[in-house]
Amino acid sequence: MSTARSIEDVEKLLADQRYVADRDLAVTIFLALALEKPLFLEGEAGVGKTEVAKVLAAGLGRRLIRLQCYEGLDVSHALYEWNYAKQILHIRLAESRAKADDGAGVEREIFSPSFLIKRPLLQALEITEEGDPAVLLIDEIDRADEEFEAFLLEILSDFQVTVPEIGTFSAKQRPIVVLTSNRTREVHDALKRRCLYYWIDYPNIEREASIVTSKVPGVDERLAHEASAYVAALRSEPFFKVPGIAETIDWAAALVALGKTSLDERTVAETIGCVLKYQEDVRRARDTNATARFEQSRRAARA
Ligand SMILES: Nc1ncnc2c1ncn2[C@@H]1O[C@H](COP(=O)(O)OP(=O)(O)OP(=O)(O)O)[C@@H](O)[C@H]1O
Ligand SMILES: [Mg+2]
Repeated sequence: MSTARSIEDVEKLLADQRYVADRDLAVTIFLALALEKPLFLEGEAGVGKTEVAKVLAAGLGRRLIRLQCYEGLDVSHALYEWNYAKQILHIRLAESRAKADDGAGVEREIFSPSFLIKRPLLQALEITEEGDPAVLLIDEIDRADEEFEAFLLEILSDFQVTVPEIGTFSAKQRPIVVLTSNRTREVHDALKRRCLYYWIDYPNIEREASIVTSKVPGVDERLAHEASAYVAALRSEPFFKVPGIAETIDWAAALVALGKTSLDERTVAETIGCVLKYQEDVRRARDTNATARFEQSRRAARA
């Protein structure tokens, strides 16, 4: 297992995993690791929040355990549930072997660990029993209900869980926890208070071009800058869904596949579907200010 003992270690880890980060983000990650506090990352779609958890797991050689949040997510899907089908089967088998008179024994058996389905939170607590703590990614917490948030608060306070029929699972070492939110609603202060908070902004053109260069093999530096500048221009307009970094990366890869080393207005029109995914947005990009936007992004790319 690797560790990150300094901010420079974190910067190196991120760079080795080809994650281009501001120093402030590296400092926040370092503190989250050093203080064993959950890291709360908020930002628009596609700015690299989820990727932080992935690169931390890969860079530290830890297992990544992901809990994807959604409306209606409940404890049975986040923590554990009993394997009902297996329990029924076990009862039937016991009956057929005429063991049913030992009802208490069968009950004990069906509420034992081999009938427990461990969901991500329990897996993350348990994993330290065998080895290094996991990286627990609680992705898009803003999509879960508020009751779930309250429950999560408890887990993140104690890092232990009691299954009444079995006993208490307690993490010997705390997992590294990364929570993300797209801010579709505000997450409660009580939860945020337990975490180190960082807002990931869209990168500036220079940084986005470095991301593109590190992620797209064979991309021309000029093309990386021009595509990033064009995407930055799109982001300043009221589109229904503005592109994230993943779209810039996909677009640059498409442009490379077309043999481009720089951007021209016609190519933009032909490939805009790599960056804008709603018909109204595509129409707006083509019909409103297309030339002015292109020229402006050209100047910005050269700046
Ligand atoms: N700073 C970065 N360095 C390198 N790659 C990045 C960076 N930020 C984003 N990416 C790339 O952009 C893609 C999108 O990132 P990610 O999925 O982490 O975004 P997100 O913020 O979680 O988005 P969403 O809110 O839609 O889930 C990833 O595939 C990642 O490769
Ligand atoms: Mg994400």
